[in-house]
Amino acid sequence: MILMADLSEVQIEPLVLRHAVAVQRLVCHPDLAATTRLPVPYPRDGASQYIEQCLAEQALGKTMAFAILNSTSLVGLCGLHGIREREKAELGYWIGRPFWGQGYASQAVGKLLEFAFRKCGLGCVQAEVLEQNLRSRRVLEKNGFKLISHRVHDSYRWSPDERLAQYAADPIQWVEYQTFRVVSMLHPLLRAILEVELAVGNVILETRKDWPEPGIVFVRMKDSFRHRRVQLPSGVHYSIVKAPRAVSRFRL
Ligand SMILES: CC(C)(COP(=O)(O)OP(=O)(O)OC[C@H]1O[C@@H](n2cnc3c(N)ncnc32)[C@H](O)[C@@H]1OP(=O)(O)O)[C@@H](O)C(=O)NCCC(=O)NCCS
Repeated sequence: MILMADLSEVQIEPLVLRHAVAVQRLVCHPDLAATTRLPVPYPRDGASQYIEQCLAEQALGKTMAFAILNSTSLVGLCGLHGIREREKAELGYWIGRPFWGQGYASQAVGKLLEFAFRKCGLGCVQAEVLEQNLRSRRVLEKNGFKLISHRVHDSYRWSPDERLAQYAADPIQWVEYQTFRVVSMLHPLLRAILEVELAVGNVILETRKDWPEPGIVFVRMKDSFRHRRVQLPSGVHYSIVKAPRAVSRFRL
């Protein structure tokens, strides 16, 4: 049995013009405009214009935009904007109305942060969200973002009483949050084994879900396992796979 079921069905892939039709179909919805700065009414060729603009900014290293895909279709967009190389970027995202509430934004933002911190080496990702956009705030908080401050907005679209909540995530807090999240998602037996290791002084250096293949939880420890005697119910086995850089891989 694999130690954790892989419920993730979301992929992100770089946004290109062939996504325009699907984007256009989803983006013209008042529930999306209500909490974003998307144009209203949305132009007929707005999606292709937007994608062309993203591609031009991408060539300058200022933007990285992604399509969010489930197993069959495009469900939304996410991206890093105003990128300052190896420094910071602004996060943006939306999910098409028919696809809300299925965990797509949370998973996509998780993948985008991995890209931002591991591949781009950014030191900070920021996000601004309307205070009353509780769904979006939850998406950020589930991905380890911290609330930094609030500010007034300058949009005619929102009530003057409404404020923007400003969030930020950095690679250190992101790794801490990932570790907490991944460890808490482990099968209770594997978590118990890991907790014994941590109690005797070993340290988690890195965790990843679905790496190196779907369904695997990867945990890189500072040292090889120190504690070998763990009582498991009969029929349950685990093994430690020695690999470069003290990688241990578990399967139940
Ligand atoms: C915000 C948005 C991206 C969320 O997408 P989504 O795929 O539905 O989000 P998820 O399903 O991943 O997560 C939503 C979370 O909000 C929670 N939620 C839903 N309604 C809520 C409410 N009224 N109060 C608090 N939390 C709420 C859900 O329970 C879920 O959390 P959980 O997984 O812990 O249960 C989507 O609603 C959207 O595109 N909105 C319009 C555009 C927008 O606001 N973009 C963000 C701009 S910053």
